[in-house]
Amino acid sequence: MPRISRRDLLAAGVAAGAAAALPRQLARAAPPGVPISVSSGNGLRAVAKACERVAAGDRPVHAAVEGVSINEADPEDTTVGYGGLPNEEGVMELDACVMDGTRGLGGSVGGIRNIMHPSQVALRVMERTDHAMLVGHGAYRFARAHGFPHQDLLTEKARERWLSWKEGLSDRDDWLPPENKEGGTITCLTRAVDGRMGGSTTTSGLAFKLPGRIGDSPVIGAGLYVDDTAGAAGATGRGEACILTCASFLAVEEMRRGAAPTDAALAACKRIADRTREKRLRDDDGRPAFNVQIYCLRKDGTHGAAAIWSGGKYAVQDADGARKIEIAHLFERT
Ligand code: GLY
Repeated sequence: MPRISRRDLLAAGVAAGAAAALPRQLARAAPPGVPISVSSGNGLRAVAKACERVAAGDRPVHAAVEGVSINEADPEDTTVGYGGLPNEEGVMELDACVMDGTRGLGGSVGGIRNIMHPSQVALRVMERTDHAMLVGHGAYRFARAHGFPHQDLLTEKARERWLSWKEGLSDRDDWLPPENKEGGTITCLTRAVDGRMGGSTTTSGLAFKLPGRIGDSPVIGAGLYVDDTAGAAGATGRGEACILTCASFLAVEEMRRGAAPTDAALAACKRIADRTREKRLRDDDGRPAFNVQIYCLRKDGTHGAAAIWSGGKYAVQDADGARKIEIAHLFERT
């Protein structure tokens, strides 16, 4: 199948009034000897750590987990791990997955409580079980068996935001709804100099979600997919949309067919926009009333990212150092 060109995307149109923004990064193959890591906009420290660890000899999947663990332990990141926003009952339930693109292995945990580092538990699921996914209390017991401490993950700041949301549930009082109910999340994709790739995605999920709701982050193929014969992709934003389109798998398969990383990410966003048929999920112009970001790292070390809506950045560390780069988009926010 031919590579999706920018012209094809523009010609196809995404929905009425859509215009795919031109990718701002030209594909440039990685120079030999340079590890590369790509992450969501909250992952500048993660990409630096992942590159440091992979340069020191860690497997890329381990390096990616080291990277995202920084955010999992950071109380200021309200979308991941400790300090994340809780479910509707005020309880933290975390999701994460890992994938080793060389060995074709993955592991994940969904809805795990009281464990600060779900990405590290997902790594143990991959390495110490014959399974790919553990959820809920089973995941918690597995983590405890592996020595992960039981911790209270709800910070005072997150509890106050939850309480404010709880008190504002009625539209007949003067409370405002919470500013943002989209899933936050961090994804980290890492490539060693020899081309081995690994990744991890981790999140506290949709703020104030129904207890038991699992997003895309622990679903291999939705929130993360890594195959170092093609590339790696990860997703942030509305998890339901990524699950229903297998968004990360789709982006990797686009790269396998030769698409540049930004074009692969745009293609996944376009698929989500095309498949968003429900009126309640669309704005007045028929466009998705939510956002999703897709991040891509191709096997040759080129990288890019795209979102449904404009305004985002992604983090990268490559031969040019650690920095943030503007994300391509389908629709311009006004
Ligand atoms: N993408 C994170 C979530 O929807 O849970």
